[in-house]
Formats: sequence, C-alpha cells, structure tokens
Amino acid sequence: MAAGLGTRMKSGKAKVLHELDGRPLVNYVVEAALALALGPKSVCVIVGHQSEDVKAAVNAEFADERVCFALQERQLGTGDAINCTRSLYCNEPSTVVVLTGDVPLITSQTIRSLIDHHKGEEAAATLLSVRLKDPHGYGRVVRDPQGAFSRIVEQKDATEDERLIDEINAGFYCFDSNKLYSALAELSNDNAQGEFYLTDIPGMLLVEGEKIAIYVAPDPQEVEGVNDRRQLATLEHAMRKNTIDKLMLESGVTFIDPSSTYISSRAVIGRDTVIHPNVTIEGESVIGEDCVIRSGTRIHESRIGNSVEIRDNCLIRDSEVGDECTLGPMAHLRGHAVMLDGSKVGNFVELKKTKLGHGSKASHLTYLGDATIGEDTNIGAGTITCNYDGKNKHETHIGDRVKIGSDTMLIAPITVGDRAVTGAGSVVTKDVKESTLVAGVPARKLRDISQE
Ligand code: UD1
Ligand code: CA
Repeated sequence: MAAGLGTRMKSGKAKVLHELDGRPLVNYVVEAALALALGPKSVCVIVGHQSEDVKAAVNAEFADERVCFALQERQLGTGDAINCTRSLYCNEPSTVVVLTGDVPLITSQTIRSLIDHHKGEEAAATLLSVRLKDPHGYGRVVRDPQGAFSRIVEQKDATEDERLIDEINAGFYCFDSNKLYSALAELSNDNAQGEFYLTDIPGMLLVEGEKIAIYVAPDPQEVEGVNDRRQLATLEHAMRKNTIDKLMLESGVTFIDPSSTYISSRAVIGRDTVIHPNVTIEGESVIGEDCVIRSGTRIHESRIGNSVEIRDNCLIRDSEVGDECTLGPMAHLRGHAVMLDGSKVGNFVELKKTKLGHGSKASHLTYLGDATIGEDTNIGAGTITCNYDGKNKHETHIGDRVKIGSDTMLIAPITVGDRAVTGAGSVVTKDVKESTLVAGVPARKLRDISQE
C-alpha cells in the first residue's frame, strides 16, 4: 500500500517517496517482498497520490516483471486500497500478503515467518503484531480473555483502556484471497476517520466464524512506521549508526566523530581508512584502504582507490579515482571523471567527463571538461578547456609529458601532442604537434623543442 499522501509529513511529496538512507521508503518494502524465499507470483504496488512519481521510483530500482501497479484514485483508506487489487487476485484462490509502504525496515524473513504461521494455523487471516514501549498512533490488537484475537482498534477509535494496550498492528497481513475480497465488499467507513479500514477485516471474518491468527514479531524496530518527519529522522539516525558501527567493527575504518558522519549503508570502505567529521558518502560508493578523507567532503556513487588523500571540502560525484591520488581542498569531480593512479587535482579544480592520466597534475584553479590527459602531464594554474561553443560540447586531447602553461585557454575541439608546451596566457585555437612550443593569442609555434 503506497497510495496515501501522508498528511502528517506536512509535505508536497507523497510520503513513500521520502528517502531513508537515500532511497524512497516504498522501495524498501518492494525489495523485502521480492526477496521472499519461495517468492511471490506478483508484487502489486498500490499507487494513488503522485502515482506516476511513485511508479517511476519503483521502476528505477527494480526491473522485475513480477512488479505491477494498481491505481487507487481516491485515498479512502487501507481497506479501499486493497479493494483496488480485486480484479488482479480475486479469481484464483491464493494467499494475499499485504505490506504497508511506510514501514521500511521490515525484512523478508519476518514476512516469511508471518506466511509460515498463517499456513501452519490454516487461518483465514493472520496479522503481524509487536509489543511497543510507546504504542501511540498505531492500531491496537485487542485479545479476548483467553488471549485469542478479538479485533483491531485504531488509535483514534480506541477507548482509554484500549489505548493502554501495548500490542500493536504492524500493518502486515496474510489473507485467504476469497475471504478477503468478500469481506471487503461488506466493509463500512463508520469510524473516527470516515475511512475504509483494512484493520476491520480480521474482526469481521472472526464474527463469521473464521480463524484469525497472530504472529508476534521478535524485533520491534523492524515494524516502526514512518508517519512524520521525526520518525523518519529517528530511523535515519538508527540506520546511520548501524552502518558506521559495522564499518568500525567489521571493516576497520576509523571515524574521528561517528555522530557527525553520514555513510550510506550500501557503501564499502576499506581497512585503515580515516574519515574526518562532516563527511558524507552516498549510494554505492566504494572507498579503498588507507585513505584519508577530510571534513566537508561529499562522495556520491563514486569509486576511490587505495591510499588516496581527499582534502577538505571536495565534491565527487559519479566518478573514479585510482590509487595514491590527491584531491582538494575544494576539488570537484563529476560526470564520470576519472583520475588514474598517482594523479593530483588541487584547490578549485573541476573535472567533468575528463580522464586525468597516471601521475598527471592540475594543482590550481582549473576547469577540465570533456578532456583526456595523458601521463605525467602538468596543467598550469588557471587552465581552461573551452569545451562549449554555445551550442555543442567539444573534446580536448592532451598527450603525455605535456606542460600547459598557466592561464592557457584550450579552444576545443583540440589536440595537444606529447611533450608539447604552451606559454603562460596562450589561447590555443589549433592543434599543437608533439614537442612543439606555442604561445600568444592566438597561440603560434615558436619552435620545435624535441632536442631541448
Ligand atoms: C495503519 C493501520 C494501523 C497500523 C499502522 C502500522 C489502518 C486503518 N491502520 O495505520 O492499524 O498500526 O498502519 O504502521 O490500516 N494507504 C493507501 N491508501 C489509502 C490509505 C493509506 O495506499 O487510502 C497506504 C499509505 O500510503 C501507507 C499505508 O497505506 O503506506 C498506511 O497508511 P497510514 O495512513 O500511514 O496508516 P496508519 O495510520 O499508520
Ligand atoms: Ca503509517
């Protein structure tokens, strides 16, 4: 179920699109469903509010033909949401497993245990419950004096006594499909919120003499729902802490201040790497061993080799850095920039879709875009590859052991041969042959320097 707006988020964005650890909430639940052992025949995501965006978020991560969508045009409650899957699942007797889209930490093992319990008990419906220290906001599971299921009551409909119950409905259920859809046809919205509650269905089935089972989840944290931004921040914090603890204990990574460091749970970091405060590592980034990453740096979906020093305040996105490189302070890599082993970029250097060869350096104030640079080349301070003519982007190719003088403008498309030199302040408009010195505006050949 992922059709609701999530009023309590106070957001223009559907709740299930809010991100936890950089991923939309709904995708956690879809992932858990797809990962189920003895997997499901299909996983239907019920969308409504911002349906196209929710579909796009799911499709961006899962290319699985078992994933389909059902549209709930008006969000009339969780019972109505499930009713929107009627045409998909009512014709063939089966087990319908209902998952709640705003409960991201649910694991497929717990869902599997719920299904096994349902089948073992031969119940018409089975719900997942858990005991919480603070059950406020959740539906409560009311049991009869013998301890058997009696009904679920929502927070807003509960009496004071019922609100004292600490066993809550986690929002995960198994149903016999025939019994589910026939009960849904009888469901009313006569309650505090005027909604069609799915949570009324088990109680209705019980009255009809059906068997209702309860599986009590062992881990309360798994079933924590996200209804407001405070709960989202709490889960984010718990996930971050868990990730950093694992990196320290299992991977041998040093964090100078774990509490001010933000690492994606999908990142990999090598042994003896030291991470300073205020570093953010996002997505599936991979960082090697023996690196030092200084404060203020953000690394997004990038690969960093071994023994790399990243000085303060760098931004590295979708890029690759080889072994023993140095970056920053204040360097910017983006658009699949590649730094080969032993290369260096210094302060205020931007690399976009550029390959910097082995041992090459651009130490100060430089823009290199759509360029390839060979080995042991030095790019002087203030150099710019002028790659954009206002309409199209053009490439710059610089060879090995080249010396680009300070403040050189390279008007692309252009090629500078091996061992060539440009004088300070050159505006290079034509290709430069190897071992040639050019200078001036526009730059002209001064002499052949192959013997120098
Ligand atoms: C629901 C349960 C509550 C349980 C809690 C567990 C109901 C009536 N209550 O309450 O017993 O303790 O989850 O987290 O089911 N949704 C739709 N269409 C709708 C309404 C909701 O798809 O018309 C989706 C939402 O996008 C969300 C999920 O269903 O992903 C749950 O909705 P929400 O409003 O958060 O229900 P809760 O009040 O948390
Ligand atoms: Ca909820």
